[in-house]
Amino acid sequence: MSVIDFTDKDYLRSPQQVLFELSQKGPILPVKIPKIGKAVLISGNDALIDLLKSPHRFTTDSKTVGKDAIFASAGIIPEFNPGNGSLFLKDGKDHRDIRQHLDQALRKSGLKSLRPNIALLADQLLETHTPAKRLAANQRDLVLQFAMPLPAMVMIELLGIPKDVAPNILKWAIQISFPSGILGNRHAQSARKHLYDYLKEFFSTPSLLPPESLGAKLLENKPAASADQNANIVDIAFFLILAGHATTSSLISLGCLTLLDHPAQLELLKQDWTRVPDVVEEILRFASPAQTTAPRYAKDTFDFHGHTFKRGDIAFGFLAASNMDPASNKNPLEFDITRDQNRQISFGAGAHFCGGAQLAHIIAEIALQRLFSKWPEMRLSSEAAGSLAWSKKFGVRNLNKMIVETQQSTSRF
Ligand code: HEM
Repeated sequence: MSVIDFTDKDYLRSPQQVLFELSQKGPILPVKIPKIGKAVLISGNDALIDLLKSPHRFTTDSKTVGKDAIFASAGIIPEFNPGNGSLFLKDGKDHRDIRQHLDQALRKSGLKSLRPNIALLADQLLETHTPAKRLAANQRDLVLQFAMPLPAMVMIELLGIPKDVAPNILKWAIQISFPSGILGNRHAQSARKHLYDYLKEFFSTPSLLPPESLGAKLLENKPAASADQNANIVDIAFFLILAGHATTSSLISLGCLTLLDHPAQLELLKQDWTRVPDVVEEILRFASPAQTTAPRYAKDTFDFHGHTFKRGDIAFGFLAASNMDPASNKNPLEFDITRDQNRQISFGAGAHFCGGAQLAHIIAEIALQRLFSKWPEMRLSSEAAGSLAWSKKFGVRNLNKMIVETQQSTSRF
């Protein structure tokens, strides 16, 4: 049984070599995870896909096997829904109906036409300089001032939430996704309640929703999965705001960090911005913002790729190790924005494949382009001074702080 500290800051700074070595040990890696206990990490394309596409053997719904969900206690992903339980935790027909409805609403809300608005939001954030404590005039906390607010602001606009309440929604989303300080968890808990209550009110007067908004599209042809159909829509919107927040924030900040670590690749991109979709694909592979999937629970006793599962045993899809497996991607340790075939699996697979993959891609493409257009000479501030801070949650690789210098300094450095 391996005891690996996935929250160690040296691992988080450069996890690729460790992940490559783990991927070579075979697809099944029994581990002990703090606050969760014994679990199995599953990597390697075949076994991972088998895990994510075998609903007859594994479930995301812990209650099916008589267990409590481990999200909240372990702090893997915030407890999404105060009410009904998140989309992640649903399985079978119930999940299919809601998921189909969500995918359709996202398609109808016209993600592509959002591009100019996302660029505008990104530019506004880059223009606004909030002087922060202990930072020089040419320094910015890229997470706090850019990567953290941008995805939430996009989702708020996409849902059609009125501008006057948007700052409150943004504040609650940040308190939930990025709890900080000793009162962080308490603030997150109360922010969850405020956000959920607000969304209930928001969906109770459909005539106020902009007709093309995601909010309005979610209200059209609601699935009849529960007696209280509006509760389903509130749950979905609540889940969307949170599921895409820290993950997309991380894709932006890790993307920027990875490009700064690889100046020749950054130069290639700066010379030709049509490369940006491939660059985001390569960042997803190399940086793996979601290191694992949510947990799966074995429904019974069975053999699986040489390992015996018993009912209730916990498995996680080890996305980050699969991304570093040479059987999936040639020369996986090389960050190469020109690679021919990229088989990154950072959005998962199967029925629970990320519902926001396309949106996350679009946001990251625009964010990187606006960022490096505004500050082409940007560089990471000296790491010795603690310019990077990492989330301690198992299963994610999220930056909580990233101090950059936006131009050559004329003072203090
Ligand atoms: C870089 C950004 C993102 C990453 C790496 C990511 C990753 C993932 C992964 C790995 C899963 C599957 C988890 C599992 O199978 O256990 C997932 C599910 C999901 N994600 Fe994302 N996600 C991102 C952004 C977003 C965004 C922006 C949204 C919202 C618009 C979103 C909405 C969802 C939803 C709704 C699901 C659940 C799907 C289901 O259970 O049917 N994600 N995401």
